[in-house]
Amino acid sequence: MARIVVTGGAGFIGSHAAESFAARGYSVVVVDNLSRGRLLRREDPNANFNWDYLGRISNVERIRADIRDPGVMDLALRDADAVLHAAAQTAVTTSTVDPETDFLSNALGTFRVLEAARLSPRRPTVLYCSTNKVYGANVNRVPLQEAKDRYLFAGEYERGIPEDYGIDLCEHTPYGCSKLAGDLYAQDYGHLYGLRVGVFRMSCIYGTRQFGMEDQGWVAWFVLASIVGAPLTLFGDGRQVRDLLWVDDLIRAYELFLERGPQVGVYNMGGGPGNTLSLLELLELLRGHLGRPIRCAYGPWRPSDQKVYISSIEKARRELGWEPVVSPTEGVARLTQWAMAHRGLFSHLAA
Ligand SMILES: NC(=O)c1ccc[n+]([C@@H]2O[C@H](COP(=O)([O-])OP(=O)(O)OC[C@H]3O[C@@H](n4cnc5c(N)ncnc54)[C@H](O)[C@@H]3O)[C@@H](O)[C@H]2O)c1
Repeated sequence: MARIVVTGGAGFIGSHAAESFAARGYSVVVVDNLSRGRLLRREDPNANFNWDYLGRISNVERIRADIRDPGVMDLALRDADAVLHAAAQTAVTTSTVDPETDFLSNALGTFRVLEAARLSPRRPTVLYCSTNKVYGANVNRVPLQEAKDRYLFAGEYERGIPEDYGIDLCEHTPYGCSKLAGDLYAQDYGHLYGLRVGVFRMSCIYGTRQFGMEDQGWVAWFVLASIVGAPLTLFGDGRQVRDLLWVDDLIRAYELFLERGPQVGVYNMGGGPGNTLSLLELLELLRGHLGRPIRCAYGPWRPSDQKVYISSIEKARRELGWEPVVSPTEGVARLTQWAMAHRGLFSHLAA
């Protein structure tokens, strides 16, 4: 039985990936230090939800450990065929108030995972969860068109940002820098040491079991907060647009890479130009699902906010034969249904 290690498996993406790999017959080992609950310096009562969820799945072994601890990843990867590295400090806002923790988790943590893969006799394939934030404020140089409820990219990037778009000579935020360090190291471990490496620069991934908050996981946050009537703030004018990717579609891309990806591949991963939503459009969908208006205030633009981000997904389509299948309308309906069925988990948000 092939063996795959998932770092950050107690998190949103890692737990879905672990479940899916187990269902496909992998023996899965999850490594997580359960630090998500400390995000934004407040306790999240659902911090261990995905960890407990995986505990009920056979073929999934859980190791509570920090990826930075010397020896932890060496041991985990000694007999692994692949590793999905999803563990990270994931909030941009936290990275600006505590850049050291962000750097240590994301840059040093990724380095430890890569070193363990390099030194493992099995030479596991590395799948690295990167981010669109590697393109930093360069994205804000794309000319925009304005419509009533949304901004749009204009000109040559109408079909989205490609993988060879500029990554430097601009601001990034500490999170963008630490994830970019991991992204470049991962590529180099592929080129220099011959590891098989897939780098996935993800934009907005959403799905069930995502415990979104104001600073991270905005689609889930809007859905959960609207259901329990927690106060919502739109920073800016609400016309900001993202390409949305349902988590199962993302995991299919990982699986396709393992099956047929090249030795080193870098892919922008989002819903692409066919699957975008603005904040205002999301609120409109939610009004429809809940049958009532959503309480919402406006706040000032946040410094690192991008008005539009849309991934070009042509490369993944071409090299992996991958295509997103869940539209934002369908995905938001599924997420709303799940959150309604689990609304008791979110009642604290209304406080
Ligand atoms: N969700 C998105 O839309 C999105 C977009 C772009 C990139 N990403 C990247 O995808 C990955 C997964 O994101 P997510 O949304 O599932 O986040 P998440 O916060 O739900 O999961 C991250 C997990 O990593 C764990 N972790 C953090 N530091 C650790 C450490 N030092 N040792 C062990 N475990 C540690 C946390 O406890 C948490 O369970 C991250 O690398 C993130 O940067 C996510």
